[in-house]
Amino acid sequence: KPQWSAMFLNGHFTLEEEDKPGMWEETFKTHSDSKPNGPTSISLDFSFPGVEHVYGIPEHADTLKLKNTDGGDPYRLYNLDVFQYELHNPMALYGAVPVLVSHNSQRTMGIFWLNAAETWVDISSNTAGETGSSDAPQTDVRWVSESGIIDVFIMLGPRPNDVFAQYASLTGTQAFPPLTALGYHQCRWNYNNQEDVKAVDQGFDEHDIPYDFIWLDIEHADGKRYFTWDPQNFPQPKEMLQGLMDKKRKMVTIVDPHIRVDSGYKIHNELRSKNLYAKNKDGADFEGWCWPGNSGYPDFTNPEMREWWASRFSYNQYEGSMENLYTWNDMNEPSVFNGPEVTMHKDALHGSWEHRDLHNIYGLYVQKATAEGLIQRSGGVERPFVLTRAFFAGSQRYGAVWTGDNAAEWGHLKISIPMCLSLGLVGISFCGADIGGFFKHPGPELLVRWYQAGAYQPFFRGHAHMDTPRREPWLFGPDNTALIREAIRQRYALLPYWYQQFYNAHRTGQPVMRALWVEYPEDQTTFIWYDVHTFQKHKGAQNLYIPVTMSSIPVFQRGGSIISRKGRVRRSSTCMENDPYTLYVALSPEGTAEGELYIDDFHTFNYHKEKQFICRRLHFSDNALTSSNLAPDSKFTTAAWIEKVFILGAPRPASVSLTTADGKESAVEFEFDSAASVLILRKPGVNAGADWTVLLQ
Ligand code: NOJ
Repeated sequence: KPQWSAMFLNGHFTLEEEDKPGMWEETFKTHSDSKPNGPTSISLDFSFPGVEHVYGIPEHADTLKLKNTDGGDPYRLYNLDVFQYELHNPMALYGAVPVLVSHNSQRTMGIFWLNAAETWVDISSNTAGETGSSDAPQTDVRWVSESGIIDVFIMLGPRPNDVFAQYASLTGTQAFPPLTALGYHQCRWNYNNQEDVKAVDQGFDEHDIPYDFIWLDIEHADGKRYFTWDPQNFPQPKEMLQGLMDKKRKMVTIVDPHIRVDSGYKIHNELRSKNLYAKNKDGADFEGWCWPGNSGYPDFTNPEMREWWASRFSYNQYEGSMENLYTWNDMNEPSVFNGPEVTMHKDALHGSWEHRDLHNIYGLYVQKATAEGLIQRSGGVERPFVLTRAFFAGSQRYGAVWTGDNAAEWGHLKISIPMCLSLGLVGISFCGADIGGFFKHPGPELLVRWYQAGAYQPFFRGHAHMDTPRREPWLFGPDNTALIREAIRQRYALLPYWYQQFYNAHRTGQPVMRALWVEYPEDQTTFIWYDVHTFQKHKGAQNLYIPVTMSSIPVFQRGGSIISRKGRVRRSSTCMENDPYTLYVALSPEGTAEGELYIDDFHTFNYHKEKQFICRRLHFSDNALTSSNLAPDSKFTTAAWIEKVFILGAPRPASVSLTTADGKESAVEFEFDSAASVLILRKPGVNAGADWTVLLQ
């Protein structure tokens, strides 16, 4: 822990008079921190009367509800490349969002501690239950940052959605990804050459498994010189990309922010001649070890640097790139193998700022510059897709994050859920964990279960360390292949719903993956839930024992909701764009339901710039299902139609009629399953963008 000389605690400012070791210069292993400004720190305490539950401050491999840190280490926020991270530990990981959310049944609130220096958060709560006392519960939170100023925002709620909107007004909302990014991603360190890529691509077709992206890790580049291709293994990148494009599929290559110091490498030469590298404390270019060996670290906090970086992604600069090539930013904490705690020295310099002051925001700027590059290469037309490992408050505006180097262990599968939920609470909706686990080799059961869970998490990518055996979905025997295929197909069937949820997150700041308390801050006893596979109905507020087999993915739809799916799964999401929709209307005990359907061109900014989108309100009450326009002045037309409607919990009707916008009425064919109380309307035959009403009589 850093040593503090001045603390502002409980409103009392205390000054330590004596110098302590490490105050004016600190050593860590072989490193020393020159602390040119001497000891600095800021701190503030907050109390939440009546609060027992606090959440947020990712990234930690821990439970969703934050733990008391009394007597132990506080939660630490300091972006680090951690080797084989431990679970249930407050240690710092790759990203940091200094936002804490408190919740009780009356009020949800948030604290945004805007500081990108190393930060520690101490949590102590005295809950009536734990202490056995009759005191009202209270949670106290202490923030401590190593440098900077106190710049803090209190988000008053009172509902969870208000906190999300208040925080979004400060840092922005989730970037709206192209639909394709919500499909399945196949990655490994590494796909070895173009033939390998082709064989894996064909493997998906042979096994009838959809996927959208195949990824290339660091070995694809020529000597880890990003923006280049290994001449032996990837001699014809455009041919490879074209092959994928012909199948409506895409690729991601990794572009890390450490640059090989090599006078034969154009990127390095330009950075050096333009003086765009971060500096060490003496003002020379900072150098450290990373994958390529000795490397420079571009100063991403410099807008001029970011502009130059963005221009590297134009098609004429990034040779061999095409429109279906997207980007992965890794190691952007930044990772410096021979630096203190595997990162940059705190006294390194970004202009006149010490690295200490802005460490946690470095990674955000890497992803920002990259995302801007992808936007610019298309003349501002196409939405980018960039995955980042390091992040900070606001990173949601630039793409997706993943939880780094997890392991093929059940505990890591389990922790992926609270880790993504925590990120969602602080605005970062587009999150996922390496399916199967990065380190070690998963057994078939773990791998299958991981696909089944991952299919229901926002960012859905299989990835593996280079020393692990190959694990493409068809390598574990036909039965497991079938189970993985089914999980991925369930993802693809639900893409319309994922897309609508991301549009919602983009508009409102509401997370895509949400804990139940976020959705239902007060009461959930009156709800019913439908098993999406069997349509069996379960009442809320009870403990249920539901036996599962390897083929079960227990998924439930809340009574009162309407979601859309696509019934035919094809090779990739792009192949399914104009396919028809099926609506699943799950009735509440009151016989009502509500949902939205969002459609646009699935990849450009025209939804925003030209209002080219369709947003429908789907509403069921009084035995009538209605589609009405939520965006009357938007213009977009779709060829897609509604091919089927399932109404779960419906009464048996004598007849069903459809009324279209022109007032015409026609009979609709239907089927009623009385055992499950499911009404199936076949071929209502209406355009997905049109006004219509279906009446059950
Ligand atoms: C570390 C990343 O976390 C991992 O996903 C990647 O495969 C390796 N770096 C190699 O690039």
